[in-house]
Amino acid sequence: MSDKAFLDLNGEKFELPISKGTEDELAIDISNLRSATSGYITLDPGYKNTGSCESAITFLDGEKGILRYRGYAIEELAEKATFLEVAFLLIFGELPTKEQLEKFHKDIKSHCIVDDDVKKILDAFPKSAHPMGVLASLTSALTAFNPSSVNVESEQDMYNAIVRILAKFPVLVAWTLRKKNGLPLDYGDKSIGYVENTLKMMFKQPNEEYEHNDVMIDALDKLLILHADHEQNCSTSTVRIVGSSHAGLFASISAGISALWGPLHGGANQAVLEMLEAIKADGGDTKKYMAKAKDKSDPFRLMGFGHRVYKNFDPRAKIIKKSADEVLGQLGVDDPILDIAKGLEKEALEDSYFVDRKLYPNVDFYSGIIYRAMGIPTDMFTVMFALGRLPGWIAQWREMRLRKEPIGRPRQLYMGETYRKFTEIEYR
Ligand code: SDX
Repeated sequence: MSDKAFLDLNGEKFELPISKGTEDELAIDISNLRSATSGYITLDPGYKNTGSCESAITFLDGEKGILRYRGYAIEELAEKATFLEVAFLLIFGELPTKEQLEKFHKDIKSHCIVDDDVKKILDAFPKSAHPMGVLASLTSALTAFNPSSVNVESEQDMYNAIVRILAKFPVLVAWTLRKKNGLPLDYGDKSIGYVENTLKMMFKQPNEEYEHNDVMIDALDKLLILHADHEQNCSTSTVRIVGSSHAGLFASISAGISALWGPLHGGANQAVLEMLEAIKADGGDTKKYMAKAKDKSDPFRLMGFGHRVYKNFDPRAKIIKKSADEVLGQLGVDDPILDIAKGLEKEALEDSYFVDRKLYPNVDFYSGIIYRAMGIPTDMFTVMFALGRLPGWIAQWREMRLRKEPIGRPRQLYMGETYRKFTEIEYR
């Protein structure tokens, strides 16, 4: 197999090196294309064929439905690891020893207080504000209260910023929910686990003892693991490009939250539940919605279906679907929405429109059903996605900074007006 590609431009031949990844993926390196060819660039809207970086964090094979974090299979991590272990693995590259995990959690817990003035920013939002907009704003605002998190050159500086955002983010998630519910803001409990504390901050009622629910803790731990990273998706690419200007970790994460909000990306988990609710209200008429999804004149898409990379089952969707049955059973929740989702999936997987386009359920198709069973409001689903994706965003930001990658600045092909002389307004 050649380690070079050849480009013939008007009879002039150019050699382009070929790079090979550890999983035998192949890339044509065009880093010097423009200078070598006196100005040629490539064009690839949506970067469907373009790699933005080399990365050692997550590997996925869309054809085979494979997903691994630092070489470990998602199926094993979801079954055997905790979310904090997976966060450590993604960020630092290895599964932690018991001592390393204890120190990591201790360092995180030492920064779980959010400055009281942040509450004034939260108070300024109307109750109707979408939680993703609130979360993005509060995350960016954290920079003002943690200025040392911006100019990070050493690994220690980066570590200090990382444990701060891992500590304060669950507090912001809980405050965003409690603001919606008109509940007093809570700082949780340093004596319990990371996911346990997150649930307690979200749901503790001010006038009663909080009772832990192991089913909910295990379910959320697994969901957060499944959402933790997914290589160069839209929001992660956003975090990397904002981080490449050295804008600081919290600002980069805030930008990632905004990108994740969109219904074509993380916002799909909310859109799936709204779609399933509409089908239920329509008497469960899935055929009508299948027809809408296939109708090119109708902007409606089957939310939770299809994926830029997976052209096979999203391995996360398989695990979440199984978990949905288990969790709803253990919580004693009988939700007809789950049956509608399964019916829709069955119909789509037997329909040539979806089969021909390799459209399968993705991570967002079933996750909202579990969140709902846990008592999480629909417009908080994407906030839960962000909570899971946080360690992946951090890991990708840290990799980009440690590798001292250049500021991201794509080129373009200009298609506008050529030079024309200015005309004074009297003569227009
Ligand atoms: C996430 O990138 C990641 O890794 C993301 C993510 C992560 O972990 O970070 O996995 C999380 O964002 C999952 C995706 C969540 N989004 C949705 O569920 C929204 C519904 N899905 C689609 O909008 C769509 O499938 C995308 C956006 C996910 C992918 O779109 P692509 O790769 O740009 O594909 P496309 O729009 O070019 O579609 C190809 C064809 C088109 O039809 P034709 O023009 O060939 O006739 O498939 C059709 C599309 O119209 N199509 C759909 C469809 N998805 C694609 N038709 C109906 N319903 C759908 N859901």
